[in-house]
Amino acid sequence: MSTTEHRLAVVTGASGGLGRALAVELARRGFDVAVAARSPERLAETGRRVEAEGRRAFVGVGDVTDWAFVSAWARTVVDQAGPPTVVVNNAGQFVTGSLVDQDPAALAGMLSVATVGAAFVVKAFLPAMLAKGSGHIVNVVSGAAAPGAAAHPRDTSTGYIVAKRALATLGHTLRLELRGRGIRVTNVYPVAFASATDLDDSDEAVRAAYGDRPVLSLRQVTDAVIRLLDPDRPVVDEVVLSAEPL
Ligand SMILES: NC(=O)c1ccc[n+]([C@@H]2O[C@H](COP(=O)([O-])OP(=O)(O)OC[C@H]3O[C@@H](n4cnc5c(N)ncnc54)[C@H](OP(=O)(O)O)[C@@H]3O)[C@@H](O)[C@H]2O)c1
Repeated sequence: MSTTEHRLAVVTGASGGLGRALAVELARRGFDVAVAARSPERLAETGRRVEAEGRRAFVGVGDVTDWAFVSAWARTVVDQAGPPTVVVNNAGQFVTGSLVDQDPAALAGMLSVATVGAAFVVKAFLPAMLAKGSGHIVNVVSGAAAPGAAAHPRDTSTGYIVAKRALATLGHTLRLELRGRGIRVTNVYPVAFASATDLDDSDEAVRAAYGDRPVLSLRQVTDAVIRLLDPDRPVVDEVVLSAEPL
């Protein structure tokens, strides 16, 4: 990747977990980063970590399913920093449980963040990317919704799987809509990863939080996503990230 061109990354769900890890790693690689999530203090901490890497942070506190918030945040970001180089739809909610037993609010939350939220974020930033004729949209889906996945490990999680399959479909369909217009769309399907370790990538931290369960470290996932962003590499439409025991 060229390090001289101005680059801006947009990362949703960046108040912790993978979103924060990606935001900080992208800043390390020279991107200014626009981050969004609902928790002001945790998101502000991500913004500080981005700035500690010497890059600008654009912090948008709000709900990605709220068009008034998303459109105003995107306008501010594009006015101040130009079109995004990459937009990562990472915000997500996971509440395990069968459909019949699931709390309706939890079900609605999962479905709306993955569908309405992701579509709003793309819709808000796309005009600037189309005007520039380049950009990359990355959807963080889930191994549970990967092509050919029979079931989630906790295979009663119907609401989550439906939500993530809808997100994957957004990616597939956008790829058709955007064909020939310079914008890449990649669906990433990670299996379980160590989001609770908050940037501590050590094997010890991962083991302390997850025991011997096979999980990806945050670094493995962020590295895989960042490799996808290299415009000199062939386009990758779909990528499944599997975990080996650490
Ligand atoms: N961890 C895993 O094993 C795993 C495996 C496969 C896929 N994934 C997917 O990978 C992504 C990141 O996972 P993670 O484990 O890092 O998740 P996480 O720690 O639970 O973080 C989720 C992020 O999404 C944000 N968010 C949730 N609802 C939102 C809304 N309505 N508007 C704005 N932001 C919202 C949360 O922030 P606020 O609460 O502050 O809004 C938080 O920053 C998710 O999409 C998840 O489904 C995770």
